[in-house]
Parts: sequence; C-alpha cells; structure tokens
Amino acid sequence: MKIQKICCIGAGYVGGPTMSVIADKCPDLEVRVVDINKERIAAWNDKDLNKLPIFEPGLDQIISRTRGRNLFFSSEMEKSISEADMIFISVNTPTKTKGLGAGQASDLSWVEASARQVAKFANGHTIVIEKSTLPVRTAQAIKEILKTTNRENQKNEISKTFSVLSNPEFLAEGTAINDLEQPDRVLIGGEDPDSVSDLVNIYLNWVPREKIICTNLWSSELSKLAANAFLAQRISSINSISAFCEATGANIQEVAKAIGTDKRIGNKFLNPGPGFGGSCFKKDILNLVYLSEYFGLPEVANYWNQVVVLNTWQQDRIYKIVLQKLFGTVNGKRIAILGFSFKANTNDTRESPAIRISSDLLEEGAVISIYDPKVSFEKVKEDFEKLSFDNHGSWHMVNSIEDALKNADAVLILTAWEEFFGLDWNYFASLMRTPAWVFDTRSVVNREEIKNTGLNLWKLGEGS
Ligand code: UDX
Ligand code: UDX
Repeated sequence: MKIQKICCIGAGYVGGPTMSVIADKCPDLEVRVVDINKERIAAWNDKDLNKLPIFEPGLDQIISRTRGRNLFFSSEMEKSISEADMIFISVNTPTKTKGLGAGQASDLSWVEASARQVAKFANGHTIVIEKSTLPVRTAQAIKEILKTTNRENQKNEISKTFSVLSNPEFLAEGTAINDLEQPDRVLIGGEDPDSVSDLVNIYLNWVPREKIICTNLWSSELSKLAANAFLAQRISSINSISAFCEATGANIQEVAKAIGTDKRIGNKFLNPGPGFGGSCFKKDILNLVYLSEYFGLPEVANYWNQVVVLNTWQQDRIYKIVLQKLFGTVNGKRIAILGFSFKANTNDTRESPAIRISSDLLEEGAVISIYDPKVSFEKVKEDFEKLSFDNHGSWHMVNSIEDALKNADAVLILTAWEEFFGLDWNYFASLMRTPAWVFDTRSVVNREEIKNTGLNLWKLGEGS
C-alpha cells in the first residue's frame, strides 16, 4: 500500500514534534495533526513562532519549513481520519485518579475515544499506530474496539479494515528534534508484515535500517515501559548515593565519574538532582507496578515502586535541608527559586520537583520568588492549584535572576538552565540579606565562585 496521508490524533509534546519531523523528512507525505483542544491547534497555527504551544529547540525552524506545505494542524477530526492511510494515536494517558487502579494504572479513556473515532470515520484499509506509552496488551483493546465497531459498519455494508502497530516514542523533551532526527533506535511492534513494512519505509527516509527494530506487539509496548523504568531507576540510584555522600564526606560528582568510567555502567544519566520529573517516568513506573501486581508478581511490583518512593524522598529531603539550614523556620523568609520546569530547555512543568519543594516551603510560610526562562505565571498557578496544600506564605514570578535574588535569604537552584551557570555571585551576594544561603541541587555553582562572597553554599551530594 502506498502511504500518502498520515493523521496524528494529539498535538502535544509527542505528537507535535514527531509529526513535524516526519513531514520535514518525507515531503511527499501529507501529515495532519488533529486535536480536540482548539486553542492548542490555534497556537500551532500561530504566525508568531514564539507562540507555538511547546518550546523545543529547533522546532520553530522545522515548522516554518513544513507548515502549510505538507504539515497541517487542524480540529477537523472526521475529515483528517477519513482521508488518512495511517493514523498515529498520540493522546495523553495520565495516571488514573479514581476507581480501580487509581494512583497507578493509566487512564486509557482518551486512547479508547480516539480508537472509536478511528473506527467510525476511517475508510478502506487503515494502519493504526500506538504512539502514546501504553500498558502492555492495550493493542488488544484497540483491536477489539476497531473490530466491534467494524461489525456495525459491515451491517451497513461499509468495508473497512485495520491493522494495529505499536511504535513508542523515545524522545526526551528539550532534545526532541535531535532525538527524532537521529534516534538511537526506532521500535515497531506488529503482526502484519505489510503494515510493519509500510511504517519501516517511512522511517527509512532518514533512519538507517539497522536502527529500526521490529518485534511483536507486546514486546514493543513493554520495552517502552521498561526503558523508562530503567532510566528512572538510574536517577533514583544516583540520588540515593548523593544522600550517602552528604552523610559520609564523599562527593557525588567524583563518585559518578568513578563509576561512570566503567563501560558496563556508562557515564550517561548519572546526574544527581532534586528527583526526576516529566510526564513519563513516574506514570510509567506506577503503571509497571500496577501491571506486575495484576499479573501476580508482587515482588516485581515492590521492586519498581521503590524507585518512585526514593524520588519523592529526595524532594522531601531537599526541602527539609533548606528548612534546617535556615534555623528551622522559613516563615516570612524570602526564598528565590531558580528554575521551575522539570529540566532545562523545556517549558514543561509536569511532575516537576519544583512544584512539590516550593509548595512544602509555602506551607511553612515562605515568601517565594520564582524565575524560569520559559515557564509562565499561568502554568505555575495551575500547578499550585492542582495540588491542594495549605499555603501560609506567598509566591510571585519575576523576570530575571536579579529580581528573584533581591532581599532573598536563600536561593534554591532546581533546574540546570544554561543561564544559571557562571553567575557573578559577588554581585548577587550584595543583593541578598545576610546570612544568605545558596542551595544547589543541580551542580550549577562552582565552590570557587562562592568563595569570598560571604554566601553559604549547600550542594547536593557534597559531604563536608
Ligand atoms: C505523550 C504520550 O502520548 C503519553 O503516552 C506519554 O506517556 C507522555 O507523552 P504528550 O504528547 O506529552 O503525551 O501529552 P500532551 O502534551 O498532553 O498531548 C496530548 C494531546 O492529545 C493534547 O493536546 C490533547 O488535547 C489531545 N487529545 C486528547 C485529543 O486530541 N483527543 C483526545 O481524545 C484526548
Ligand atoms: C524521558 C525519557 O528520557 C524519554 O526517552 C521518554 O520518551 C520520555 O521520558 P523526558 O522526561 O523528556 O524523557 O526527560 P529526561 O531527560 O529523561 O529527564 C527526566 C527527568 O530526569 C528530569 O527531571 C531530569 O532532570 C532528570 N534527570 C535526568 C536527572 O535528574 N539526572 C539525570 O542524569 C538525567
């Protein structure tokens, strides 16, 4: 089958960049990204590329080359689905908040709704691709939905056929374009060799054949969950050792370097920090925990659950250290938070450690000024509102590091944005109240830069 038109349901952090790169690399394909959120579609279509709904280095250039040429963002679900030969489902799959599996299992309502729409509007033969990260065996549910709805179509003598593939996305935010253009691997799971080959042919436009791995559906679904679990586990491992370093006088940077030079361990993903955030790690591990229990493997469930427990503990630990260093109280004290996104180079704050740490400080009555180069006031407000906590302090957003640090008793660095490195601490010390503290959770500050400034420095994972 010659694939000419692709549709992607979900214009989010995954769907938007992924489809932009496909459109860029395959000028003969027409790519339509649809979303139920009309405001989001309008933002994707905004002439001003600074107003794209997500910030991702390099994305604006790709959009300016492809949008209106062979890449279209629209709300026309029916038309886009009915014309497509291939449909990616890239909607969000948050952790369930109520009912069976609440707090662990993924809420698949949006995936199911998308499958029903595909079943209803598709024409002829359509390849349906799971792009969202999904629990193992979700493809079975999608197949069932497509089949059942199809029976109704057949009654009305409409002929439609589907094949379902899994093609999880491994991009990390902040480096999404590079990850998509030069992936470590592309994973495709499926049983129908023709459909698999149609999808392989799309990727072959820019990905070498040896990097495209084809597996069965369940291996593909599970590999995505397992990859995220392994990555998150590495962060919890290094963070656990960071606490150990502080207790013993070891230095986490030295330890990370020493262990990372062992080729079997490798030096990537060994940066200690305030814990992992982002939309995937916690959600996917909790999902793995839920599935392990479901399949009668409680020991496996407990093992992975501990990765999340340690991550929360790391955030709590940091807030308590701030409190303790400021003589046990932050009530009325001014604390600057540098960085609110869950990591540098993204405006995404989902599961950001900054949310929990700041709200704990607000509960203690702190006066917080937040500076982040990309996160908006509205986003922070929304994050605090979602988390119901007893705010005994106050917070505001500022537009510069300088404004954040004016009259501050402490500054807490939570995201490693480029602009936080190499600051003139002599100058910033003069703006702060004494005694002033710098709490560095991302190894942004060099101890030498602080020397002779009168500032106190606490660095995560640095024992004394
Ligand atoms: C992705 C993956 O799809 C998810 O499985 C993974 O675990 C996290 O990353 P992401 O692109 O980051 O999700 O989510 P989000 O930015 O929330 O985008 C999803 C989009 O789908 C939203 O714009 C939402 O409006 C849209 N949507 C949702 C639909 O168009 N239709 C629906 O029925 C539901
Ligand atoms: C992750 C996976 O990397 C990606 O493959 C998957 O598709 C989606 O989930 P993402 O959440 O965008 O991507 O970012 P990532 O770079 O993995 O960072 C996740 C969190 O871990 C961030 O909060 C980051 O600060 C933290 N982290 C990462 C560390 O604390 N230390 C590290 O060494 C690496």
